[in-house]
Amino acid sequence: MKPVKVGLLGLGTVGGGTLTVLKRNAAEITRRAGREIRPVMAAVRDLEKAKIRAGSLALTDDPFAVVNHPEIDIVVEAMGGEVLARELILAAIAQGKHVVTANKALIAKHGTEIFAAAQKQGVMVAFEAAVGGGIPIIKAIREGLTANRIEWIAGIINGTTNFILTQMRDHGMDFADALKLAQEKGYAEADPAFDVEGIDAAHKLTIMSAIAFGIPMQFEHAYIEGITQLTRDDVRYAEQLGYRIKLLGITRRTPAGIELRVHPALIPERRLIANVDGAMNAILVKGDAVGVTMYYGAGAGAEPTASSIVADLVDVTRMHTADPHNRVPHLAFQPENLSAEPILPMGEVRTGYYLRLRARDETGVLADVTRILADSGVSIEAMVQQEQQAGDKMMDIVMLTHQCLEKHVNTAIIKIEELPVIAGNVVRIRLERLAG
Ligand code: NAP
Ligand code: HSE
Repeated sequence: MKPVKVGLLGLGTVGGGTLTVLKRNAAEITRRAGREIRPVMAAVRDLEKAKIRAGSLALTDDPFAVVNHPEIDIVVEAMGGEVLARELILAAIAQGKHVVTANKALIAKHGTEIFAAAQKQGVMVAFEAAVGGGIPIIKAIREGLTANRIEWIAGIINGTTNFILTQMRDHGMDFADALKLAQEKGYAEADPAFDVEGIDAAHKLTIMSAIAFGIPMQFEHAYIEGITQLTRDDVRYAEQLGYRIKLLGITRRTPAGIELRVHPALIPERRLIANVDGAMNAILVKGDAVGVTMYYGAGAGAEPTASSIVADLVDVTRMHTADPHNRVPHLAFQPENLSAEPILPMGEVRTGYYLRLRARDETGVLADVTRILADSGVSIEAMVQQEQQAGDKMMDIVMLTHQCLEKHVNTAIIKIEELPVIAGNVVRIRLERLAG
C-alpha cells in the first residue's frame, strides 16, 4: 500500500521528537497503521540550525510550501503560536489534508472554527498532544469513558510549573533557577509566562472540559491564577498540615453551570495526585459509571509528546478512508448536540480554603477574625498559630475552612484586612479534597 506522507510544521522539541520516533519505530508503526507513515518535508525558520536534525528530510523556511505540497496527506503542526498556525491549519484543511497538532492555545481559542472547517471538508484534526504530553487523555475521555456522564476532571496539566514546584520544595531551588532548568529541558512554552501564569493549563483544561461535557471551547471564561504568588512559607505551612500545593486545573459540572478554573490548590498528601512530581502530569476523571480514574505520565518533552503525535498519525491513517460521519466527533459529542451550559463565575464556586494572615499578637484578634468569618458564612475546620521569632510582635495565623462559596470568603477577607491588628493582605489558597 502507498505510504501516507507527512509534512511537519516545526522541527523543535515536538517536531524533532516526532521525527525521531517515526524513524526509530518505523517498522512497528507500519505494522500498526497498515501502511508506512513517511515524513517528507519540514518547515523551520532557521534552515542551518535544523540541518542535522532533519537528516534526509527536505527542509523549507516557507511553511506554506508544506501545506501546499501536493503529495502531503497529513500536516503536523508543531510550530506553536496562534495567528500563522491558524492560517496554516485552515489552509491545509481547505486543501483536504488532515491535521495533527500539539497546539493547545490554538485549539482552546480557535477549535470551534477549525473543527467546523474540518467537518465541512470531511478531514480530521487530531490533538492528543495538546493535553497531558504523552498521556492519552483525549482518547480516554472521548472514547474510553464514552458511556459515562462525566462529573468532574482535576489535573496537574502543566509540566513546567509542577517541575518548578518540585525543585523548590525538594531541592530548595529558587523560582528563577527552576524555570531556567525547565526551559533547558524543553518543557516550557516559547513564552514561559504561559506556564507560570496558568494560561497553558487553562488552554488544556478548556479542551478537556469541552470534550467531557460536550460544550464549545470557552477559554475566555476560564478563571486563571498561576504559581508566581506562592511563597515558601505557604508551601511549608501546608505541609505541616498534611497537604501539598499543586497547580490544578479543575472543571466540574454543577446544577448552576460548569466550573472552569486553574489555580494553586492544597491537596491532602495521601492522595496519589499530591505525589506527582517533576514534569509528570496526572489527571483524575470522575465518571458516574466508572468512578474516579487517574491518568499519569510525562506531561511535556520531546518523545512523550511525540508519542501522542504519532498515535494521532496512526489513527488518521487508519480512519482516513472511513465515512466522515462514522468517525469519532472532534469534541466527542455530535456537533449539533453541543450543550449551552454556562461557565460558572468564580464567586459561585464552592470549595475549601487555606487562609494565612499576619496579625498583632494581642488578645481578641482571633475572636475578631472568627466572628467575621462566621458572619460571612465561612466555617473554620482547623486553625494554627505559627511559632513567632523572639521579639516579633506579629504572628502568622493559618486557617483551613470547610467548603463555602468563593464570594463569601472574598467578603470576609476584605473585612479581615480592614482590622487594624492585621498587617498586609490575607493569603488565600483553595483546598481541594479530590475524594471520589
Ligand atoms: P520549539 O521547540 O520552539 O519548536 C518550534 C519549531 O517551529 C521550530 O522548529 C521553529 O523553527 C519552528 N517555527 C516556529 N515559527 C515558525 C515559522 N514562522 N516558520 C517556520 N517554522 C517555524 O517549540 P515546541 O516546544 O516544539 O512546541 C511546539 C508546539 O507544541 C507548541 O504549540 C507547544 O505549545 C506544543 N507543545 C509543546 C510541548 C513540549 O513539551 N515542548 C508539549 C506539548 C505541546 P526555528 O527553530 O528555526 O525557529
Ligand atoms: N509547556 C507545557 C508544559 C508543555 O510545561 O506542560 C506541554 O504541554
